[in-house]
Amino acid sequence: MFWVEGGHPLQGTVHVDGSKNASLPILAATLAIAGEVTLEQIPQLQDVATMRQLLQSIGAAVELLDDGSIRINAHDVRSSVASYELVRQMRASVCVLGPLLARFGTARVSLPGGCNIGHRPIDLHLRGLAALGADIRLEAGYIVAEGSQLYGAELDLCGPHGPTVTGTCNIMIAAALAKGRTRIRSAAKEPEVQDFARFLNAAGAQISGAGTSIVEIDGVDHLRGVRHAVIPDRIEAATLAIAAAITHGDVTIKNAPTTHLTSVLNALDLIGIPFEVTPDTLHIRASSRLRPARLTADPYPGLPTDCQAQFMALLSTIPGESRITDTVFPERFRHAAELVRMGADIRIQGNSAVIHGVTQLSAAPVMASDLRASAALVLAALAAEGHSEIRRVYHLDRGYHAFEQKLNQLGARIQRVNDGPKI
Ligand code: UD1
Repeated sequence: MFWVEGGHPLQGTVHVDGSKNASLPILAATLAIAGEVTLEQIPQLQDVATMRQLLQSIGAAVELLDDGSIRINAHDVRSSVASYELVRQMRASVCVLGPLLARFGTARVSLPGGCNIGHRPIDLHLRGLAALGADIRLEAGYIVAEGSQLYGAELDLCGPHGPTVTGTCNIMIAAALAKGRTRIRSAAKEPEVQDFARFLNAAGAQISGAGTSIVEIDGVDHLRGVRHAVIPDRIEAATLAIAAAITHGDVTIKNAPTTHLTSVLNALDLIGIPFEVTPDTLHIRASSRLRPARLTADPYPGLPTDCQAQFMALLSTIPGESRITDTVFPERFRHAAELVRMGADIRIQGNSAVIHGVTQLSAAPVMASDLRASAALVLAALAAEGHSEIRRVYHLDRGYHAFEQKLNQLGARIQRVNDGPKI
């Protein structure tokens, strides 16, 4: 649980860690490589720890090095089973499906369960693997995929809410070790997908077009060991920028991947937040004259759905009517009810939230429902008058490293106290 004393403008310099969403599929992909892989800039997060545990449970040797990098050797992996116990803790565990199938011709991966941000099927992953020739069935809660030889194919990964990020990664790695050429249409264009392709290409894959909606992959016989540094976390950078804005602070964010943040910077601009950028620094300057805005979370290069909750917290503090629509996860609004407990005026209408900004949020005990919702509640608490109590911050620890320490170094007053049982 966090105790947060609101009302302190953030000031100073803060450093962004490596990207969670780039790290997870890359870590999973090491299962398809029979050599040593060294990964730099992997953030120390709960989700990364869960993925490490999953790799080890499958038989990979995982070593944390003194310089913070991770060395993985999956040479001796013999199993291709990802258990329910680990998969249920983190949906991104499904990223091991493509690598295991590609290398071993068979994979048995627990079907991920429900999720707090809405319905999250994996039909596109399965459809893509089936298009490459895999035989897919469900057996006692597990996806069983078989195909001793996969073949390149033309496939389209567009779902009802746009492309799939981890689905694109799963198909890319399976196709990287298939026979012949694969063309993925409606591929996700996220920077994390681009980093995944860079990693695989460095390991010997032949992938072109990552970052566009058409990705072409020429299959190779095997992938080799490699060293790779993951990109910085654009969502952490955006969260810190919004933290600076909501407290009317003045913060320099170092290691911010500003070329990946165009939509976030456009949203900050629309709201009237002054900032300066260099390729790896974002400086947010104080302003108390902010404007309401209409924002839409869309697939990349649109505004990330992973920033939607944080922007909702910010817009709750700006007088006037704002609206946020989420086309990627249309039901991802559980944080709204908690923000209302802090005095925000928010109504949900379908896949949109209509926000009437208030001049001052007030502290309250609130409960985090998922990773980005937790971040939004922390930001709201920084701006609120009084002491807020935020429960279930274990959600936050899944995706932010030392978040309260970073904010405290900027002048926030956040204290972590025992969260009690995870119920
Ligand atoms: C990834 C990110 C997550 C982010 C999300 C959207 C990782 C580890 N996680 O999740 O932080 O919020 O992208 O940017 O990178 N869908 C289907 N069928 C499928 C797969 C997805 O209908 O087979 C739908 C989803 O329900 C959702 C949309 O497509 O509405 C996008 O989901 P997707 O891109 O797959 O999200 P993840 O890759 O799970």
